[in-house]
Amino acid sequence: MTSDPAAPEVRPTLSVVVPTYREAANVPALFERLKTVLDGLPWEMIVVDDNSPDGTADVAFAIARRDPRLRCIRRVNRLGLAGAVIEGWLASSADIVAVIDGDLQHDERILPKMYAALVSGEGDLAIGTRVADETAPGGLSPARQKLSELGAWFFRLLAGTSVSDPMSGFFMVRREIVAQLAPQLSPDGFKILVDVVLSAGGRLKIVEVPYVFRPRQAGESKLSPLVGLDFLGLVAHHATGGLLPIRFVLFASIGAIGLVVHLLVLTGLVEALGLQDFAAGQIAATIVAMASNFLLNNEITYRAYRYRGLGMIGGFLLFALLCSVGAIANLDIASWLFRGRSVWWVAGLAGALVSVVWNYAASATFVWRRRRVG
Ligand code: GDD
Ligand code: MN
Repeated sequence: MTSDPAAPEVRPTLSVVVPTYREAANVPALFERLKTVLDGLPWEMIVVDDNSPDGTADVAFAIARRDPRLRCIRRVNRLGLAGAVIEGWLASSADIVAVIDGDLQHDERILPKMYAALVSGEGDLAIGTRVADETAPGGLSPARQKLSELGAWFFRLLAGTSVSDPMSGFFMVRREIVAQLAPQLSPDGFKILVDVVLSAGGRLKIVEVPYVFRPRQAGESKLSPLVGLDFLGLVAHHATGGLLPIRFVLFASIGAIGLVVHLLVLTGLVEALGLQDFAAGQIAATIVAMASNFLLNNEITYRAYRYRGLGMIGGFLLFALLCSVGAIANLDIASWLFRGRSVWWVAGLAGALVSVVWNYAASATFVWRRRRVG
């Protein structure tokens, strides 16, 4: 193929994708740092911003007007870390793509090392592995460290490959690999690295590059340790050959937790407090279980779309209303099947299944559909 004589000599061979949500203060600083560490390399930075209210996209576009090494994709009416990263990769024509957080917590100085590992053919995927710094307090709390270790152990069990920090959000990979995997990757999760490795099915040569995780300088973290649960959703998604969406797995698991909550509350009221009125106990237990389901889904399943502050009351009322419809459908279908010739547990299971699918679809359509603000 002959190249267009009018085109500039160098095209980027490395695209560093930066997913951002409210990182206006950090984007210029990160770009300056990349200029320093990637000096001499044909690189570009691609900011993928989900219409942050602090004007992150405008800040990025302002730089992009002066310097072609920065590009920005502003997404509207769509939210989510993994989806943003995938979209950034798909907008690249470089040989190698990377992802790094926009909040300066990842040490950009290891990028050249990661790049060298891929160019030399030593690896297809170079992971930035968080390690504790003995000389200074690191950015990773002991609880988070433990959670990471547990995750790594579980990951090895599943993937058959040992990765010390599978929850890392900082890595570099050959573009053709992710371009090929893209249709299979889930846009809803946070653990994009786990998704890439599991989707590739053990075909990748992996290199790890250690670095010290830094504390956040500006802005606040958008994730909580609870998102570790989305890792489980991802695992179930892969185990079923992609049949079950991550969000459905999370929603159904939280529903199961709700059932336990319900029974605990009911037991507490009837046994411990000696409540006589069973119906009242049942109603109280239902409300508490619904509240637990709402809060957990708000925190995990639909985190990007979550309700905050007083808005949570309206969200909860809507959720409770829709789930009541689900409960009635559950009861009706189960009784109808049971009156026919179904065995009791088949009837019960069918009823429960219909209500969980209804609750899931109705919540996604009506409860967590707002755009995130703030
Ligand atoms: N486009 C977009 N859309 N970007 C987002 C969104 C979103 O909905 N949510 C978060 N981000 C961006 C943030 O602006 C930041 O640049 C990056 O994604 C990571 O978000 P943080 O809020 O800083 O996450 P963290 O520091 O708590 O989590 C880090 O550690 C996790 C493992 O413990 C990240 O590196 C995760 O990827 C990693 O799994
Ligand atoms: Mn962060």
